[in-house]
Parts: sequence; C-alpha cells; structure tokens
Amino acid sequence: MENHKLVLPEHLNHFGYLFGGYMLQWVDEYAWIAASLQYPGCQFVTIGMDKVEFKKSVRKGTILKFVIERARMGTTSIQYNVGVYQGKDTTVNRSLIFSTKVTLVNVNEEGKKTKLTCPEASK
Ligand SMILES: CC(C)(COP(=O)(O)OP(=O)(O)OC[C@H]1O[C@@H](n2cnc3c(N)ncnc32)[C@H](O)[C@@H]1OP(=O)(O)O)[C@@H](O)C(=O)NCCC(=O)NCCS
Repeated sequence: MENHKLVLPEHLNHFGYLFGGYMLQWVDEYAWIAASLQYPGCQFVTIGMDKVEFKKSVRKGTILKFVIERARMGTTSIQYNVGVYQGKDTTVNRSLIFSTKVTLVNVNEEGKKTKLTCPEASK
C-alpha cells in the first residue's frame, strides 16, 4: 500500500525542517490503515515501532511517499515495513529518507489481545 503526504509549514521544527514527531505519526497512521484494510474484521492498536533514526532532514514542500508492506504475521500481531521516500523514483536508494517496522496487535472490545482470527488473517 502507498500513501503520500505534503510537508507544510505547520509540520516544521524551529530549524525549518520536518519535525520528527509528525513523521512518526504518519508512519503509525498509515501502518494502522494498511492493517485495518487488509484485516477488516480486526481492531488494531500499535504495540511497537522498531529503530527510529532520522538521518536526513526534510524541507517544506516535499511530497513524501510512504510504502507500507506486510512483513510478518504472528498469533495476535502483524508487522509492517514502512519506507518513506522523497522524490519520484523509489528505486533510487538515496530517495529513502526513513524506514522502520511497525507492529500492531488485534484487540477485543475490552482492549485485550486476541488471535488474528479475522477473515483475511489466513491470506
Ligand atoms: C496491545 C496490548 C493489548 C498487548 O497486550 P500484551 O500483554 O502487552 O501483549 P504481548 O506482550 O503478549 O504481545 C502481543 C503481541 O505483540 C508482540 N509484541 C510485544 N511487544 C512487541 C514489541 N515491542 N515489538 C513488536 N512486537 C511486540 C508479541 O510478540 C505478541 O505477538 P504474537 O501474539 O503475534 O506472537 C497491550 O500491550 C496494550 O494495550 N498496549 C497499548 C496499545 C496502545 O494504546 N497503543 C497506542 C500507543 S499510545
């Protein structure tokens, strides 16, 4: 799954570059959307995000491209690789500006973890 985001002035830190908290928000949100669309019978909450490292700054006006791919399915959890690119060609290595893994857990109405028994879970 892919998503895009335009970096606007309200997303910048006091140095004039993208504030990392927004990046994490978008990564979390898009991973959650991918899981919820792939497993429509499940209710997900985020339990963890792997290593977070901001090695490249992002300027105002950049169109970010988020590529969300399912990496692993567990008993109650599902993990996604999320890569964030700037520029049009995502095959060019330097256009990758951020990546991490996001893990979400299927919960029941009481908020307790529950098996991925939803219809799409076997795919
Ligand atoms: C989600 C929640 C119900 C899970 O209950 P829990 O008892 O902590 O669950 P567990 O430690 O047994 O882990 C559940 C699954 O997540 C996986 N998991 C646990 N910690 C993890 C981590 N740091 N990274 C990746 N996966 C993790 C476990 O391997 C397990 O996967 P599996 O069942 O597919 O094998 C509970 O942690 C919770 O309510 N968290 C708050 C969620 C939330 O509010 N998120 C928004 C952040 S503010």
